[in-house]
Amino acid sequence: MLRLVTCICVLTPLEILAKANKKVAGVLFLTGLTFAGSCILVSKPALNTDVVTVFLTGNELGALIPCGCSGGQLGGLDRRPAVFNSVPAQRRLIVDTGLFVEGDGEQDLIKFDIVFQAFSLMGYDLVNLAEEDIKAAENLGLLDSIGSVFNAITSYRPTDSNLPTKFTKKFPLKGGTIAVTVAVFDVESAPIEQIGNVFPPRAGVQTVNILILNRCAPGIINSITKNEIVDCLICPAESDEPALLSARGKRPLVISVGRFGRYICKLEIKPSQDKGKPQLSFSPIPVKEVLKPDKTLVDLYKDYQQLVKGANLLEKIPRFSLPDGLEYTGTESCKDCHQYEYDKWSTQSHAHAYETLKSVDSELDPECVVCHVVGLKYESGFVSEEETGHLKDVGCEICHGPGSAHNETMGKAETTGPKLDCTDCHTPENSGNYAGNEEHYFEKIVHWREPMAPGNVK
Ligand code: HEC
Ligand code: HEC
Ligand code: HEC
Ligand code: HEC
Repeated sequence: MLRLVTCICVLTPLEILAKANKKVAGVLFLTGLTFAGSCILVSKPALNTDVVTVFLTGNELGALIPCGCSGGQLGGLDRRPAVFNSVPAQRRLIVDTGLFVEGDGEQDLIKFDIVFQAFSLMGYDLVNLAEEDIKAAENLGLLDSIGSVFNAITSYRPTDSNLPTKFTKKFPLKGGTIAVTVAVFDVESAPIEQIGNVFPPRAGVQTVNILILNRCAPGIINSITKNEIVDCLICPAESDEPALLSARGKRPLVISVGRFGRYICKLEIKPSQDKGKPQLSFSPIPVKEVLKPDKTLVDLYKDYQQLVKGANLLEKIPRFSLPDGLEYTGTESCKDCHQYEYDKWSTQSHAHAYETLKSVDSELDPECVVCHVVGLKYESGFVSEEETGHLKDVGCEICHGPGSAHNETMGKAETTGPKLDCTDCHTPENSGNYAGNEEHYFEKIVHWREPMAPGNVK
């Protein structure tokens, strides 16, 4: 019988992990996370060693670690091992469903290489390469070596790689062997009826068939459900959070794994006692800040930052020209005529936004710099601290627009756009506390002379 104990929420899952017996804690740990703070601990679980765990990730889309702009962000490749290692290697299967990066630019390729190395360091058993991944790997000359680093499958044809479309791993358990097959199928290049040929026949051992679709349609799900070959169907992500798309208890489990590595999906497989099909259960695990980052992966991210620095990406940013021949003139240029506003601004956090990036070694990363300086995407905008130091930080011209005409006319020409709004940078992801606290944020940046309160008017 399970005894449910409501715990007092003072221990973080990691502390529980440290205090308790390791094996049991592994289970508690995941349980705690799965129920996301509901804080109900199953105190005496009969630790079922007869379980195979499949960890599913995918759609990293270049999110190596969260930017750190605001607290509570989920994700980070470096935190994944803390989840994976809660299950011994011989009873788990770690699978990535593909889409390592978002585009095919220079920074994307640097990231692809890093994700590739990270998966290898983490002991991924299998990676599905989507069309975009194959092309990136080809670009980097990695395609030939991929098969020797980890097992890889793809449905993208034609490719020189000869990568297979399926992979099987067998798990000897107390109650018999379970064979888990993961396959990928492209519904647009082959008729769905061929899905029967994708999986090996279910002979003797208990089998679990997992199918990855890089493209999906409602009709497709129905025809796959009908033929009873697939036990778990992985559809393309439509949101950042993972989703269980099938009704609870129904087979196949239809899921999507979410985006940006914010969650790891956990699929538990229990062998059937009565020769039926193995039981599957699905739970998404949020990759939270409390998970201890893996040191090797932290170092790998540092390597990434050095590669980004070395690539001089800021100089290569495509730039638009400003309307009406306007130019950015820099924060210092406003000082002479707006000393009061300048002094106020200088004491506020916008004035050290670039320094903040330096403190985390990302001051040459365009993906960060864009919100921490003036006009990165425009001609006459920020290029580097040496060349354009007057345009670093969240300077005046971000909100008031480029200053050239205004300055030349001694303030007669009103400041004009492009002007950014608070929410252009204070997005839900980069400023989790902003929404709902707009007034509070606004008060903190007051640098203009406020109208006198009525009582003060003489
Ligand atoms: C170009 C992007 C950008 C825009 C536009 C922007 N901010 Fe910011 N804001 C930042 C960055 C970056 C920081 C972090 C600075 C640091 O700490 O280094 C920040 C920090 C702040 C902080 C300090 C938060 C804290 O808790 O210390 C406040 C308050 C703030 N912004 C308010 C505003 C308001 C109000 C607006 C609109 C009028 C605005 N910001 C527009 C980028 C922006
Ligand atoms: C979309 C705009 C945007 C981008 C892109 C961006 N930042 Fe920020 N950053 C902000 C804002 C806004 C804040 C202030 C958030 C707040 O206080 O609510 C901030 C704050 C920060 C802080 C200060 C957090 C603190 O504790 O005070 C750090 C560090 C930071 N960003 C690093 C980065 C890094 C590294 C990257 C790139 C990986 C990045 N930022 C990309 C907008 C951005
Ligand atoms: C994060 C955005 C932001 C930044 C950065 C910023 N301002 Fe402002 N500024 C505002 C807002 C918002 C107001 C008040 C409302 C308004 O007038 O639009 C304002 C008001 C002013 C005013 C008064 C305008 C009036 O109509 O009386 C002046 C002058 C001014 N700012 C100058 C500066 C100078 C100089 C800097 C740089 C040292 C600066 N601002 C930086 C957003 C910003
Ligand atoms: C040569 C002096 C001078 C310089 C340099 C100057 N201003 Fe002004 N600014 C003025 C005068 C004069 C006004 C008229 C309104 C007032 O303050 O009475 C004004 C008004 C403003 C206003 C409110 C009206 C409007 O045009 O939107 C803002 C905002 C502003 N300045 C921002 C800036 C910023 C940002 C810079 C730097 C890029 C800057 N100013 C540089 C003299 C100057």
